[in-house]
Amino acid sequence: MSRRYDAYEHYDKYEDYEEWFDPMRTDRKARRRRKPKANHAPKKRKEAIIEELADHLVELEGGFKPTYTPSRYEKAWLIASLQPFYEQAIITDVLALVKGGKEASVYRCAAHPSTGETLLAAKVYRPRMFRELRNDRLYREGRGVLDADGHDVTGGLHRDRIMRALGKKTEFGVQVAHTSWLMHEFTTLKTLHEAGASVPKPFLAAENAIAMSYHGDEAVAAPTLNTVTLEPQEARRVFDEVMHTVEIMLEHGLVHGDLSAYNVLLWQGKVTVIDFPQVVDVHRNPNAGALLHRDITRLCEYFARQGVERDADAIFGHLWRRYLRRNPEEVLADLSRAPGWSEG
Ligand SMILES: Nc1ncnc2c1ncn2[C@@H]1O[C@H](COP(=O)(O)OP(=O)(O)O)[C@@H](O)[C@H]1O
Ligand SMILES: [Mg+2]
Repeated sequence: MSRRYDAYEHYDKYEDYEEWFDPMRTDRKARRRRKPKANHAPKKRKEAIIEELADHLVELEGGFKPTYTPSRYEKAWLIASLQPFYEQAIITDVLALVKGGKEASVYRCAAHPSTGETLLAAKVYRPRMFRELRNDRLYREGRGVLDADGHDVTGGLHRDRIMRALGKKTEFGVQVAHTSWLMHEFTTLKTLHEAGASVPKPFLAAENAIAMSYHGDEAVAAPTLNTVTLEPQEARRVFDEVMHTVEIMLEHGLVHGDLSAYNVLLWQGKVTVIDFPQVVDVHRNPNAGALLHRDITRLCEYFARQGVERDADAIFGHLWRRYLRRNPEEVLADLSRAPGWSEG
């Protein structure tokens, strides 16, 4: 048996599980053996880690030299994250950063002809080691933990180990949470797109990124509603379209959970609802009613400014009765009693 350091035992123990969550990791395993990472070394400064990552670039690039020139800070994880899309003939180039956010950055990419598209959007999640996982308890209740194939692992053989890791926020736990978060977005996009909802068409999920249809053109991405002023007539149409997608979600037992004018794109009259990692199961998450109510309230606030007056409580009540066959008063009364949880 080869000599082992205590520090790496930790890795070996979890390798099997890691692989399910993260098939991409197999490549990295080999690299890790050659050049073991000091998991237990004193905490490095972020900058030092970035430098180190950037040093691996030669190895990672493998002919993939994007047109878009990211900052050194961004480069390592961008290339590592998008490499699978390049290798699997989904994209051929990265053209521009559409928007960089706290949770993720979205890039405009040149699509591989086999996709039937000319442009694609790649949503790259922040690398897990730099992610401050948002307080996701509210959303996580009653939903499965998804592995890299989109399978729920909470019923499986390793449930206890996985739940323990999630609770303790070990490196493995953070990775499980990260993969699960991303796969919830991907599987939701698939379900909703197949159901005919106005959402991006998903193409491929990789360890750290999702490739989906791009909305916009070569020069600019579709604006989000919060930056757009609408004529009342157009506003009414857009509102109905967004609500139609909310209803398709409810038909599938889903609530968006972060719906607002910031997560709706409008391009040449076409509405696209985006940003689904935090979706909740309406039948299993006890916060679903409150989240749906907040989603609708935020939408109504925006549309009121566009000259469309809609009663959020009434719409919520109608939907709750129709899709849950339950009395909305349970939720509404609760909301007025406990204004406690903050508007995220
Ligand atoms: N498919 C897409 N096509 C064009 N632009 C997109 C697409 N998806 C996201 N964007 C842009 O990227 C931004 C961030 O994406 P989003 O999914 O909302 O992530 P987050 O808000 O968590 O950072 C959006 O506000 C939108 O401007
Ligand atoms: Mg968003």
